[in-house]
Amino acid sequence: MCGIVGYVGPQDALDVVLEGLRRLEYRGYDSAGVAVLADGILATAKKAGKLANLEKVLAEHSLPEGTTGIGHTRWATHGGPTDRNAHPHLSADGRVAVVHNGIIENFAVLRAECEAAGVEFTSETDTEVAAHLLAAAYAETPQGPGRLAEAMRRVSRRLEGAFTLVASHADEPDTLVASRRNSPLVVGVGDGEYFLGSDVAAFIAHTRDALELGQDQVVEIDCERGVTVTDLAGNRVEPTAYTVDWDAAAAEKGGHDWFMLKEIAEQPQAVADTLLGRLGEDGGLVLDEVRLSDQDLRDIDKVFVVSCGTSYHAGLIAKYAIEHWTRIPVEVEVASEFRYRDPVLDRSTLVVVISQSGETMDTLMALRHAKDQKARVLAICNVNGSTIPRESDAVLYTHAGPEVAVASTKSFLAQIVACYLVGLFLAQVRGIKYADEVAAIVADLRRLPDAVREVLDRMEPVRELGRSLADADTILFLGRHVAFPVALEGALKLKELAYIHAEGFAAGELKHGPIALIDQGTPVVVVVPSPRARESVHGKVVSNIQEVRARGARTIVIAEEGDEDVVPFADHVVRVPRTPTLMAPIVTAVPLQVLACAIADTRGYDVDQPRNLAKSVTVE
Ligand code: G6P
Repeated sequence: MCGIVGYVGPQDALDVVLEGLRRLEYRGYDSAGVAVLADGILATAKKAGKLANLEKVLAEHSLPEGTTGIGHTRWATHGGPTDRNAHPHLSADGRVAVVHNGIIENFAVLRAECEAAGVEFTSETDTEVAAHLLAAAYAETPQGPGRLAEAMRRVSRRLEGAFTLVASHADEPDTLVASRRNSPLVVGVGDGEYFLGSDVAAFIAHTRDALELGQDQVVEIDCERGVTVTDLAGNRVEPTAYTVDWDAAAAEKGGHDWFMLKEIAEQPQAVADTLLGRLGEDGGLVLDEVRLSDQDLRDIDKVFVVSCGTSYHAGLIAKYAIEHWTRIPVEVEVASEFRYRDPVLDRSTLVVVISQSGETMDTLMALRHAKDQKARVLAICNVNGSTIPRESDAVLYTHAGPEVAVASTKSFLAQIVACYLVGLFLAQVRGIKYADEVAAIVADLRRLPDAVREVLDRMEPVRELGRSLADADTILFLGRHVAFPVALEGALKLKELAYIHAEGFAAGELKHGPIALIDQGTPVVVVVPSPRARESVHGKVVSNIQEVRARGARTIVIAEEGDEDVVPFADHVVRVPRTPTLMAPIVTAVPLQVLACAIADTRGYDVDQPRNLAKSVTVE
């Protein structure tokens, strides 16, 4: 949510900053802006709408060439997505420029204070107070190296809420400073040049050497002095250095029309990489990154899975497997509700937080609540060094690679696999499953990349079907057992991408209400569980297909190879390879992603950046 870039070094700052913004645009795209420091003057350009609008403005009136610059791509919170509210925001004298991600919760009090001192505000944002406060703090800070950083510390101590702030001062041409609390910020270290970014994508084209910043820390990047990190009191802090394990090419479209299509195509690799190094030679599991002792894992008597959006759906699927394999009760909850209902947590509770970005504020707050209550927290995350894994007791990374499209696809599959590894590991450590049982499931997991590849090879009819559904007003998704959360995810993908009303239901609930929605021609997508799923659940879903068809629905059935029972009641059958019951979501989710993508594309929408959404939601 909101992308931030900063640069100091010998290159033309505007080029570097714009390139960074292009890679961060998935974080928010309501407006964009840049500021460049040249010849002691801060020059800015900002524009509502996507980055392309700003680029158009700059093509007509470029900014002077400078070697220090900041940029921002916005997902609006305070103040509508207008030119005026776009960042950077300047202090009244134009000497300070600030970009911000997060929400300054006490901004109203601070704004009143600035106004009382005679400052006139030019935007409705919470951010602008930071620019004015910083200018005032700078004036009060003694001259000398580190002056802007000290002013930033003084201001940050007064702010409440969540913020990453990056600031430039016209008097410090080779310096940028930044501060972070509850919002992401990483530092890129190049050769005589330094970068700031909401994530490493901002500078991956220039360097893979990065530094993590902790909570309540201020960083100064300066061409001469390099990188200096302190806490808010000014004490030096040694940041953690790491090397990014992917390169700029991984963040390009690679010949696909949309990032999402590329990411859908990368799913066999994402699944394979998430399994890589974790499946032992003997058929067991090796999970070194899970930093909880075997005794801790044996003591667990309850599991909560807590996450948002697509990651929540991965959690819902995980419940079936973890409970089945470990016999430990599992509850799954959306992170935004979790801490407010006072869940019962203690030392023997394992809270699994799932987050692609590792920055989702709702999930982060749920994690902190769980830790306050002494629960053990295990993060399943795709972004190395992000806040959620850093604050968790243990972490299992999904190695899906960078995901740029706002709607999650490859991370979803990788999250399900990672959750399964956790469930199986628990069963292994607790001795609930014999080694040969674990080995048999591990063998099933190993076959998944090929199974996903097989599904992808057959997607042309699904794309065609998508084109024929582009005028639908509503599409319903049904599933039962593990196919129920898959139906929820199918509906979410369609809402996100195609802006069509869609709902997912447990097929058994149909008769308790939703069936009233079915009208002549209503498309209903039914995800059919394996005929080998427990207690005739398959037969019941086949009956559900008949029930909706009898009421006029156009039925689109996702069923495994060889399942002939569905044929008489399906207007369209999409085949997926035969997989064990619990593995089925990994293959059945794929056609639903492709379908949503095809419908959105036919309707002419931006598949990668749907309206009103952001990939990384860093406000509650
Ligand atoms: C946003 C994104 C969703 C994502 C959710 C959770 O709403 O638009 O695609 O599923 O956040 O994100 P996370 O990074 O925590 O998995």
